[in-house]
Amino acid sequence: MLDGKKIELGVCYYPEHWDKSLWKSDLERMKAHGISVVRVAEFAWNLFEPEEGRFDDAFWDEFLDLAAECGTQVIFCTPTATPPAWLTEKYPEVLNCDIYGHPVYHGLRKHHNMTSPVYLDFVRRVVEHIAEHYSCHPAIIGWQIDNEVNCETAAYHAESDHTAFREYMKKKYGTLENLNRAMGTVFWNQTYTDWEEIHLSRNTLGANSNNPHMMLEERRFISEAAIGYIGLQAEILRKYKRPDQFITTNGVFSVIDNHKLTRDELDFMTYDSYPNFAFGLENNKLQPRSLRDRETSFNLIKTRSISSRFGIMEQQSGPGGWNTRMCQPAPKPGQLRLWTFQSIAHGADFVSYFRWRTCALGTEMYWHGLLNYDNRDNRRTAELKRTYADVEKIQGAAGSRVLAKVAVLCDYDNEWDGMEDKWHGPLRWQSMDGWFKALERAHIPFDFVNMDDNGPSAPLENYDVVVYPHATIITEARTAYLKTYTENGGTLILGCRSGYKDIHGQCPMAPMPGLLAELTGCTVEDFTFIGPADEPEYMIWNDKRVPVPTFNDILQPVAESCEVLATYAGNYYDGAPALLKNPVGKGVVYTFGAVFGEETVQAFIDALQIASPADGVLDLPEAVELSIRVAEDGTRYTFLLNYTAQPQVITAHKAISDLLSGASVSGTYTMQPYDVLVLQD
Ligand code: GAL
Repeated sequence: MLDGKKIELGVCYYPEHWDKSLWKSDLERMKAHGISVVRVAEFAWNLFEPEEGRFDDAFWDEFLDLAAECGTQVIFCTPTATPPAWLTEKYPEVLNCDIYGHPVYHGLRKHHNMTSPVYLDFVRRVVEHIAEHYSCHPAIIGWQIDNEVNCETAAYHAESDHTAFREYMKKKYGTLENLNRAMGTVFWNQTYTDWEEIHLSRNTLGANSNNPHMMLEERRFISEAAIGYIGLQAEILRKYKRPDQFITTNGVFSVIDNHKLTRDELDFMTYDSYPNFAFGLENNKLQPRSLRDRETSFNLIKTRSISSRFGIMEQQSGPGGWNTRMCQPAPKPGQLRLWTFQSIAHGADFVSYFRWRTCALGTEMYWHGLLNYDNRDNRRTAELKRTYADVEKIQGAAGSRVLAKVAVLCDYDNEWDGMEDKWHGPLRWQSMDGWFKALERAHIPFDFVNMDDNGPSAPLENYDVVVYPHATIITEARTAYLKTYTENGGTLILGCRSGYKDIHGQCPMAPMPGLLAELTGCTVEDFTFIGPADEPEYMIWNDKRVPVPTFNDILQPVAESCEVLATYAGNYYDGAPALLKNPVGKGVVYTFGAVFGEETVQAFIDALQIASPADGVLDLPEAVELSIRVAEDGTRYTFLLNYTAQPQVITAHKAISDLLSGASVSGTYTMQPYDVLVLQD
């Protein structure tokens, strides 16, 4: 699986939910639908260890032997996402706690913490047993560790977490003096005089506004704890597993450095894709998402940045919902196929559906799988058959890379600091959304690239244009990477609120944008949020009014080379610079004083003439998504996806064949609702 040679389909299966008499026919029916892989066991601790220290392998031996007999490949999971009742009752210190210090009891899942020595011992023991006993089984092709770490919560407040945080801070800062300086504890008399006084966030008066520098450190600590928790399982698996078996986990969730996790502990990352969150009712209110299920592409692009080789461990296949929340509609005819191709178009070579048959009991009895409770074939299984047949037609695309000449930079320091700091965090999401949507509508594929002091996660030189929307926290190392990129001819675009914080989230005494001053050739003279009562704000750029949303930095060119491209209009700083251009080496830096809304990004696309690879070849309506995968021999697979219930007309300026229908597309062509084309010249 994910060997670059084949695109494969799989399904999540829960043999423990069904009578054994169903297993064989289930596996045979899966095969008849093109499913060659099943993922099992991620919540089945009791079946491995029904009571403390007593292991029993009869159940999984029987299932795995049957899978081998049927020729089904198995992804076997460690069951640590759901510690059993016998464990949590006897050892309550393994439970997570809320911010008030109250334990989170048994009954849901992920009720454990990741630092209690007692829990980690139980985890070690069960994983060691499973790895030793099962890794030689011929049906097992790879391992999934735990399930969706940091999904149900990314906040941890158990006693063991406080203790482990204290140790983490001791190791990182060495002395209380260093720690007090870095954490800015002189403010509001928060100075620590003993290590025992140090805690993760706890309930504070009012709005739970804890020390912001401690909060940033808390998130770094949680990420380390999560990586350590997954890492300890990976280490055991590596000791026992066959060399041909892979190790992965399914994500992708917040407060975890997924890039580091993947680099250090996994062979690749997998993503759980549920596009119908775009349509769900939460508290009887639909959360509006303007690009609806197409917005899942944002997460797929993010996953690709973490792991260029990746798969989908759970792809939505039916209406979703718990009994208590998330009332989602059924996928419309065509959407199961559309979403499968959405994942493949963005680089996935493995798509595994959630789940084979809808569970008839428990919290997820409305999270529908391919089959309903009645177990009869239905329109979803019919669509799966068609999808499988279509996937077979594009097997040549396996292992190919997604084409992108634009990069949007992100980094964990700013993401985590911004979860607390409302003066830059929400702006970042608004700008990433603006870039994503405008580029999507303009059919310009892009990559997310992660930035840290060891360098960007992909060479910036691969990209014509690099956008770092709000590099609020910046370091010398990161500045140097940006400088090299622009000096070598790159185009860098920066937004407001750049460069004013150090690595602890404090604001050094220097003109903004701090370390970025040389690159941008400017200072920030004044700044303001734009209040809701303010007039709509614009800048005048090339005689056009371009929105400058949410926050305005009033810029001042300092370097002689720095040129004012646009000025503000509509507020007390009318006529002040809003957009600057500074040549650096063979490249150029654009400094923009505001947040990147969709319309603003469109203005950048027009003015900088950022091209779509479709230009001159295909005319595409906004509603159709474009993604291109390029094989090593240069063969291009152009994916076109229609997310709407309406037909969409495209125009091809030369004859191109659609690998799925076999049709030759030339001149105008009508894509049917929810249809997919995979074109090849
Ligand atoms: C995923 C999870 C699955 C199942 C699914 C539907 O997040 O990994 O176990 O819960 O969502 O809710």
